[in-house]
Amino acid sequence: MNSAESTTRHETACPHLHRFHLQPPAHRPLDEPDYFVELREQCPVARVEMPSGRQALLFTRFEDVKAVLRDPRFSSDASRPNFPFDGQAGGDDPIAVQSFIRKDPPLHTALRRMVVAPFTPKAVATYTDFMGEVIEARLDAMATMPQPVDLVENFALAVPSGVISSILGVPHEEEQRFQRLTERFVTTTLTPEELTQSAADFVAFCRELIELKKAEPQDDLITRLVTDRLEAGEIDMDQLIGMLILLVFGGHDTTTGLIGLGIFTLLKHPDQLELLRSGKRTWENAAEELVRIHSVARSGPRRIASEDLEVNGFVVRKGEGVIPSVLAANHDEERFGPSRFTDFTVPEQRPSHLAFGFGPHQCLGQNLARAEIVTALKAIFDRFPRMRLVDDRIPEVKTRQDRAFWGLRELLVDLEPAD
Ligand code: HEM
Repeated sequence: MNSAESTTRHETACPHLHRFHLQPPAHRPLDEPDYFVELREQCPVARVEMPSGRQALLFTRFEDVKAVLRDPRFSSDASRPNFPFDGQAGGDDPIAVQSFIRKDPPLHTALRRMVVAPFTPKAVATYTDFMGEVIEARLDAMATMPQPVDLVENFALAVPSGVISSILGVPHEEEQRFQRLTERFVTTTLTPEELTQSAADFVAFCRELIELKKAEPQDDLITRLVTDRLEAGEIDMDQLIGMLILLVFGGHDTTTGLIGLGIFTLLKHPDQLELLRSGKRTWENAAEELVRIHSVARSGPRRIASEDLEVNGFVVRKGEGVIPSVLAANHDEERFGPSRFTDFTVPEQRPSHLAFGFGPHQCLGQNLARAEIVTALKAIFDRFPRMRLVDDRIPEVKTRQDRAFWGLRELLVDLEPAD
């Protein structure tokens, strides 16, 4: 395609400037924003203006989003001018900017390789026992609490936090502090001063942990990174802290969001829950479908074209910011059929989707996330088979607006209703 043709396509493809947002319709808070449906049909590559005033190209079709994510010439380097941060929840977390999720090869590849081992399917399979223990401890604690119980605070948050603490090697007595600091750190509605303070507190905590592991090495990820990488001079202190922060940031609210949303979804679809209980469908497929429809890292992947590029025939100019929307892609009717919350069914085949990204930056923690979601959902429905929502009206569901990742703010249930 020559440049004149591509410019014409570019402009005629979609002449309007759209306002970028991720708000679902008010009365259907668990669906994608309505304008995504329109864009996929009429304007699959749309120019959008973000709250920051910056403009970017928004991709909404499955095949296009996948093509962008697969192509390393779409850079993740957030220090490039015009990188499409948007000034809204999850868009421009200052710490993530320093970590390898916002870097390109070869630095990205080298840093990612250093932390990959504890997240392989083989490694994750060895966590079954301690994951089960973390979950059972939460279930025991909830069984003695006055009803109703908020499952977000008491279960969905506690499970991923307990698991990642254990993998990293956060001492047991520091777990509460770790969870508090993490909570604050992933809140996106802080003032700039509060944000700076919460980041500083978190970094100070990481430094303490690193010093502790130097003094008392253990069999955990921080110790291995300190002894094998930091002390060997392969990474510096800032890079190590950036890695820890990314793992905590990536491994915390994402899975929390899915566990809360997963419980709500299954309670709202008792016929699907029954299929799982009777063994007609697998929990693994249920988890995968939940990950797809809720796409909690919806504000996540951002890229910038490092040269003039083509995406399925559409030309993107060097320096243009790009938003490959995993949320929109995962609701592409052409690939998945109807995908509203009310359409939820557990598929017979495991769905293949983009909620964990694709290509070089594909989610490092996806095996862990899957294992946590499956184990947590199975365990809670096993332990409390009659669990009931206090308020089951979908428009009343309380979603989080102040977090980098999508999820529920609160999920009140009666674990063992009297009748
Ligand atoms: C349901 C849960 C999760 C979802 C939906 C999710 C989603 C994603 C997505 C979409 C990306 C790609 C970002 C991009 O392309 O720019 C990503 C990257 C990443 N995720 Fe996850 N994530 C989840 C759980 C986790 C967990 C449990 C961990 C770790 C403990 C984790 C660690 C990471 C890391 C380190 C990256 C960066 C990979 C790289 O840049 O090479 N995530 N995640």
